[in-house]
Amino acid sequence: MRNVIDILDLSTEEIDDLVATAEDIISSPSKYADICRGKKLATLFYEPSTRTRMSFEAAMYELGGNVLSMASAASSSAAKGESVADTVKVISCYADIIAIRHPKEGAALVAANNASIPVINGGDGGHCHPTQTLADLLTIHREKGKFSGLTIGLCGDLKFGRTVHSLINAMARYEGTRFVFISPEELKVPDYVIRESVEKKGIPYTETTDLDGAMPELDILYMTRIQRERFFNEEEYLRLKDSYILTADRMKYAGENMIVMHPLPRVNEISVAVDDDPRACYFKQVLYGKYMREALILMLLKEAGKLEGTGRFRTVLL
Ligand code: NCD
Repeated sequence: MRNVIDILDLSTEEIDDLVATAEDIISSPSKYADICRGKKLATLFYEPSTRTRMSFEAAMYELGGNVLSMASAASSSAAKGESVADTVKVISCYADIIAIRHPKEGAALVAANNASIPVINGGDGGHCHPTQTLADLLTIHREKGKFSGLTIGLCGDLKFGRTVHSLINAMARYEGTRFVFISPEELKVPDYVIRESVEKKGIPYTETTDLDGAMPELDILYMTRIQRERFFNEEEYLRLKDSYILTADRMKYAGENMIVMHPLPRVNEISVAVDDDPRACYFKQVLYGKYMREALILMLLKEAGKLEGTGRFRTVLL
C-alpha cells in the first residue's frame, strides 16, 4: 500500500505531478468536483489542528467525497486506551484513506504498517509534516516560479519544527538550494537532519542567531512558532518564546522579492502589520495546502486502485 509518511516518500517527479495537478484543480475545479464520489477520507487527529484537518476535509468535499472525522483523542476510543494500530485496523473497515496526526514521532508509520488503506501523515510529533511541505512547495512554485537556485532562511524553532524538517528534505533535492538556519542555540536544527539531509547532499548552509543580518540575502524567509507543547519545561519556553519577532519595520532589511512564509498558527513571531506587506505569503499557503491535499488524495486513491481509469497518476487523471 502506498502511504506518505515523509516527504521523501515522494519522488521529485511525483512532486512535479502534484504541483501540476493542483494547478489544474485551481484552473478547472469543476473537472474534479465529482471525482471521489462514494469515497471516504477519515481524519484521525490526536493533536490540535485547524488548518491541516480542515483542509484535508475541505479537499475531500471539493473532490465530491465524504469525510469521517475524529477531531481529538479525547472523543475517541484512544481515551479508553485503544492503540493506534487497532484504531487504524478498525478505520480501514469504514474509509478509503486516512490522514493522521499524533504527538508521538513514528505514530503515522505505525498506522501505515497496520492499515489496509493508504495513510497520510498530518504531523507526527517533532518529526515530519509532509503535507505542509506540499503546501509550501506550491507556494514557492507560484511565487518564485521555480524550485532551484533559492536561498531559504528558516527561523524560530528549528529543533521541534516538523514543518522545517520536511521542508529541508524537500528543498535539499533542488539544484542551487542554500539554507540559512536562524534560531537560538537551544533550538537549532537537530544533528540528524543536518547530517542526513544537508551535509550528505553537499548543500551549503549557515547557522546564525541574527535574523536582521540574514535577511538581505534571502529569497524566502520561513518563520515558525516557538512550540510551547514540545518543551519539557515552561521556564525554558518563557525564556525563548519571543526570540524572533518579524515586524513591519524589520521588513526593510529584506529584498523587495523576498517572500515571508509561515505554516501557521502564528503567536508573536510575525506582527499583524506585516500581513499588509505584499511579500507576506502565509495566508496564500493555507489556500494552496488545500489544493495540494486534493492532488495527494487523488494520487493515493488512484495508486490504491480506488479510482477509475488506467495509467499512472498524471495531470489528466482519468
Ligand atoms: C504546524 C504543525 O502542526 O506542525 N502547523 C500546521 O500544520 N500548519 C506548525 C505549528 O504548529 O507551529
